[in-house]
Order: sequence, then C-alpha cells, then structure tokens
Amino acid sequence: MPTALITGATAGIGAAFARRLAADAFSLVLVARDELRLARTAEQLRLRYGVEVEVLAADLASDEGIARVESRLRDGVDLLVNNAGFGNAGSFPEAPVGDELRMLKVHCEAVLRLTLAALPAMRKRGRGAIVNVASAAAFFTRGTYGASKAWVVSFSEAAAHMVGHPRIRIMALCPGFVRTEFHQRAGMDSSGIPGPLWLKADDVVRGAMRDLALGKSVSIPSLRYKVVVAVGRLVPRRVQAMVSARIGR
Ligand SMILES: NC(=O)c1ccc[n+]([C@@H]2O[C@H](COP(=O)([O-])OP(=O)(O)OC[C@H]3O[C@@H](n4cnc5c(N)ncnc54)[C@H](OP(=O)(O)O)[C@@H]3O)[C@@H](O)[C@H]2O)c1
Repeated sequence: MPTALITGATAGIGAAFARRLAADAFSLVLVARDELRLARTAEQLRLRYGVEVEVLAADLASDEGIARVESRLRDGVDLLVNNAGFGNAGSFPEAPVGDELRMLKVHCEAVLRLTLAALPAMRKRGRGAIVNVASAAAFFTRGTYGASKAWVVSFSEAAAHMVGHPRIRIMALCPGFVRTEFHQRAGMDSSGIPGPLWLKADDVVRGAMRDLALGKSVSIPSLRYKVVVAVGRLVPRRVQAMVSARIGR
C-alpha cells in the first residue's frame, strides 16, 4: 500500500485529502496539533475505508514540531501533502509581527524542510509526489498571506524543475475561497465573498489529484478561478491591491 503524509489533516482541505487518499487505498500519516481530533479523525478513516492510519501531533510553527515530521518523512512516504496553514485576523501592518512570523514558519519554512526531508527516499525509490497547498492569493497582492503563498508556488515550480525526475512530481495547489474552518479561525468576516466564489474542499482535492496525474506543477481548481487568476494577471498590481483589500478580509 502506498503511504501519504498530510499536514493539517483534521479539517478542511487536509481532511478532504485524507478521505480521498484513503478511498484510493493509501495508508495515511495525519499531522495536526490537536491530539484528540487527530485520534478521532484517524478512527473514522480506519472504520470507513479500512486503511492504516498513523497520527503525528506536531505544531509546524515550532522547530520541534517540524523536526518530528521530518523524521517520519525520512523513513519514506509516497505522497506528501504540505497543507497546514492559516490566516491572520489583522492584515499588514496591524497584524502582530509574531503572528506574521508564525505564518512564514508554517507556510514557507515547514514546506521547505518537509519537502527536503521527503525527497531522498523518493529519489531512492525513483518515484513520489509532493503537493504544496498554496492559494489563488499567490497571484494577487494579499499581504503576508499572499506573499507566503507566492513563495510556495515559485518554490514548487522551481523544485519540480530542479529535481528533474519524471516520476517525482511536485505541484503547488492554488484554490480560491474554500468552505472550511479557515476564515472562522482567522476571525475574518467572509460574508462579503460572493457565493459563486466558494469552492468545496472535496472538489478542490479532486481537481488537484487530476492535475497531479497530468504532471502539472501548478493546479488552479475550477474554471472560475482559472479565469480569475488569468484576468488578475492583466490587472495592474495597484488596482489588484485595492480590490483585494475589500474581499474576504
Ligand atoms: N479555505 C480557504 O479559503 C483556502 C483557500 C486557499 C488556500 N487555503 C490553504 O489551504 C490550507 C488548508 O486550509 P483550510 O482552509 O483547510 O484550513 P482549516 O479548515 O482551518 O484547517 C487547517 C488544518 O491545519 C492544521 N493546522 C493549523 N495550524 C497548524 C500548525 N501550526 N501545525 C500543524 N497543523 C496546523 C489544523 O489542525 P490543528 O488546529 O489541530 O493544528 C487543521 O487540521 C492552508 O494552507 C490554507 O492557507 C485555504
């Protein structure tokens, strides 16, 4: 059985990855901070899909937490999904610098270190895949959050190219707004986000898995967001910043 390690696997997009990969008969390693919720999620997956599920409680905003996951990855996995992430209540420059640094640690440092930890075993086996969950915000001016996700896209594209192995795939996943716990946890008012801009986590994962199989290095699930990103790229950054400041903050 192939093995997948998913960070942030107890809610939202990560939980959708866990369901999909369990249905595809992957053994799972679930990573998040809340141990009780990890245990509950693992049990539900075992009962429903009959797969093996390990849990690894780790805070990816800490060196110790990242090191624990690195250590498990060095044993070898077939698929790594770097998904854990969050938004901050305030936006730049009001958000406390400690919160901004924690975001960079989880969104960038953890993604870099976990990718590096997973690759040697994949190279040895001559196959493997890494999905780094970025965001459509990577293509717009959305403060530290958008900047951190732009790093994820740029890093993933470069890593895919530099690893240069046809059977080791690295892909950045760039969803638009997805109905998860993300906005509530960040204390964001998402009431102004128009209904058609919301995606379902299961649909996002379906699109991601299809794009991964196609060998894409960047996946933007749904036609809506492909159009949003393509049009957004034509809009001057200053105008982007003005529109962005009004949506989903
Ligand atoms: N929802 C959206 O609109 C949207 C859009 C584009 C991209 N994204 C990206 O998608 C990813 C998943 O977001 P989501 O919407 O699914 O969020 P979510 O529903 O809030 O789930 C977040 C998951 O990450 C875990 N997590 C959070 N901080 C962590 C940390 N420091 N260490 C380890 N685990 C941590 C949480 O569990 P614990 O709290 O137990 O740790 C939970 O399992 C993020 O990278 C986010 O930036 C989301």
